[in-house]
Amino acid sequence: MQWSDRYTYYQNIVEEALDSAIPLAVSPWEEGQIPQRLAEAMRYSLLSKGKRIRPVLLLAALDVAGGDLRCGIPFAVAIEMIHAYSLIHDDLPAMDNDMLRRGQPTNHCKFGEWTAILAGDALLTEAFHIMAQSDSPYALKVIKEMAKRAGAYGMVAGQTADLSFEGKLADENMLSYIHRHKTSDLFIASMNAGFMLAGSDDGLIKAAENYAKMLGLAFQITDDLLDVLGSSEEVGKAVGKDDDKLTWTNLKGVEQAKIDAEKAVQKAVDYAQSFDFSDYAFFAPLAQSLLQRVK
Ligand code: IPE
Ligand code: IPE
Ligand code: MG
Ligand code: MG
Ligand code: MG
Repeated sequence: MQWSDRYTYYQNIVEEALDSAIPLAVSPWEEGQIPQRLAEAMRYSLLSKGKRIRPVLLLAALDVAGGDLRCGIPFAVAIEMIHAYSLIHDDLPAMDNDMLRRGQPTNHCKFGEWTAILAGDALLTEAFHIMAQSDSPYALKVIKEMAKRAGAYGMVAGQTADLSFEGKLADENMLSYIHRHKTSDLFIASMNAGFMLAGSDDGLIKAAENYAKMLGLAFQITDDLLDVLGSSEEVGKAVGKDDDKLTWTNLKGVEQAKIDAEKAVQKAVDYAQSFDFSDYAFFAPLAQSLLQRVK
């Protein structure tokens, strides 16, 4: 199977699971159900057309490590919920103030600001609710990993730095800090969760972590490049919005950003060698595909 067919295969599993993760209430205030307005706002962002790269990584890692894909589904749903919440909040007027996401109006433009904030809160909390219901013996280990990488030590730390340095000068160390945390941390959580759920040993988990760190870096550098070189129609979000941000392209220039993305991809490919077996080439070609991405 081609790596891209495998990607689609995992993506389809994720889409189906996401659709049933947040049920629509039958009436606005049905006791024991999510309030209708809130459920609609949560589903709006969760089910819109994303690439699903984080849950795909999780399922692919679980698969290559010989685990049962079914046990990964709640965790795949959870990481996409955490990602969806991070996007809703990232787009708010107080943060990046964006109006277009995944080719449609951002959550706060569609539902208003307070609903968007609460939809983000609810997606984050529901992610942990869903993971806590797993009966995997590794569930608690994975939940800790998710909490660390998504929260104050991880993605939220990265977002704090991203916004703190808007319009300010900083060096490459701070730029790396932002990309490592705001983006790589959720990639690392996804890969680690997959290997952990399969009961993999720590050596393999370390290799997966190194891979995910480089994949996340390449992903965020190419995201920065798309803001400069991409088209809004293809990217599905406004472009040319990062002029005041501490991005790879702003600090190092477009040409150097391309070179650094290639270097990060090459490192990811090297790390992938320890688990990307030849009958299962997935992680290396996935990393290489980032250099051509248009969305
Ligand atoms: C956007 O993530 C936020 C970044 C970390 C760059 P994605 O590019 O994965 O967004 P979707 O989920 O495909 O919309
Ligand atoms: C945000 O980075 C990463 C998150 C943690 C949401 P960006 O602000 O560059 O993401 P986009 O470009 O809005 O998707
Ligand atoms: Mg941002
Ligand atoms: Mg943004
Ligand atoms: Mg961006």
